[in-house]
Amino acid sequence: MRVLVIGSGYVGLVAAACFAEGGNEVLGVDVDAAKVARLRQGESPIFEPGLDDLFRKHLASGRLKFTTDLKEGIADADAAFICVGTPQSEDGSADLRFVLAVGAQIGQAMALRPDTAKPLVIVDKSTVPVGTAARVHAEVAAQTTKAFEVVSNPEFLREGSAIEDFLRPDRVVVGCRTDHAEAVMKALYAPFLEASKGKWFRMDPASAELTKYAANAMLALRISFINEIANLAEAVGADVDHVKVAIGADHRIGPAFLNPGPGFGGSCFPKDLQALLKTGREHNQPMLTLSATVEVNRHQKQVLLRKLKTHFGVKAGMPAPLKGKRFALWGLAFKANTDDIRESMALELIEGLRQLGAEVVAHDYAAMDAVKAKVGDKCAFADSPEAAAQGADAVLVATEWPQYKAVDLDALGVKAKLMFDGRNLFRPEAMHAKGWSYHSLGRTPIID
Ligand SMILES: NC(=O)c1ccc[n+]([C@@H]2O[C@H](COP(=O)([O-])OP(=O)(O)OC[C@H]3O[C@@H](n4cnc5c(N)ncnc54)[C@H](O)[C@@H]3O)[C@@H](O)[C@H]2O)c1
Repeated sequence: MRVLVIGSGYVGLVAAACFAEGGNEVLGVDVDAAKVARLRQGESPIFEPGLDDLFRKHLASGRLKFTTDLKEGIADADAAFICVGTPQSEDGSADLRFVLAVGAQIGQAMALRPDTAKPLVIVDKSTVPVGTAARVHAEVAAQTTKAFEVVSNPEFLREGSAIEDFLRPDRVVVGCRTDHAEAVMKALYAPFLEASKGKWFRMDPASAELTKYAANAMLALRISFINEIANLAEAVGADVDHVKVAIGADHRIGPAFLNPGPGFGGSCFPKDLQALLKTGREHNQPMLTLSATVEVNRHQKQVLLRKLKTHFGVKAGMPAPLKGKRFALWGLAFKANTDDIRESMALELIEGLRQLGAEVVAHDYAAMDAVKAKVGDKCAFADSPEAAAQGADAVLVATEWPQYKAVDLDALGVKAKLMFDGRNLFRPEAMHAKGWSYHSLGRTPIID
């Protein structure tokens, strides 16, 4: 198959590299000329485990190429995947400007296709609200009379394990109207579904679009749910670690997504929930569990800051109450194994601590450049967790990088053995035995 993948971000780049791995001829397209130049040289603009090797392999094999101009690949393409961003608009809805613009560009470029060509399968892979396939169809149809069909094929990959998720999917959802479109999509996904024994779901485009939002809403709801249980566990002297494994052992519930933390962030859940709420409002359908999920998350994002303020006796109205204090911040990415800092709790911590007059020395394994570019000199940066902790009044854990678990806590040059762990990386008893005052989520702190 010949495939165009438009947008070379987290989703587009992964899809392009994986479709090349599946044996297809892929042309990746992006408007960002500097990004395309880097990609052509084999330099990945994002951190994603396994991605560099895969996309360099197929640059070398010649099955993967990059361009800024989608016209280059349109004439003989079987499918064109739209993988551009759908950021949150001011009213909460998904901003479809980029998606619709690509629809119009594809429509204009269709003039280059021979009249005898099979219908081009145009695929919405970006996360888009119900009805977008029809809007993209209208954008394309306004420019061309050549044959095409717009298909919805939402993406479920997780940053940090995106390649694995794409090559071995649990399921592939395809919202399409014709057997031709289904056959093209099946040919592209068949090798991956065979490898994973994943499921194939054909449905109408609107149901496919809603499936993506419903999946993210369910996952976000579980996170907010366990965070509420964790906060209650702490208040009543229970241990959420026991509770979560015991409820997760019920096959109706399952163990995934039941880890307490500093609330969900990243590029998807926050904006997708807002978009789904907006869809609910537009159709006069109150989405009450969703509103509660968002509200719980807003509260949870401040959880470490609240604990820290309580510990240091910070009261409202005190001017710079933490002046002279220095905090080591371990982790900046919104989760481990990614460099994505969109809606990361660490950013709120940096801002909150700065307002309290404190100094922050941050460390991360992938996201330091992104944070430097965003916050400038609002915090300092260290090359290792040990260097960040040097002389610190407390260590704050914001991202669950597994390497932090392996740090020799006895050898840290901290001023005080005080830790606020937003990821429950350590066990309270073990930390207590090492002489640390250890605050975590949903477990009663053991403090002398
Ligand atoms: N990141 C994730 O984990 C993830 C997972 C599933 C779904 N999604 C969805 O996939 C979509 C893309 O997300 P992302 O994280 O890859 O975004 P991203 O911001 O990383 O990448 C988008 C890319 O599209 C490019 N672009 C914008 N307009 C263009 C145009 N007209 N032509 C060509 N390129 C253009 C941008 O330059 C950018 O490189 C979003 O709708 C997102 O919600 C993301």
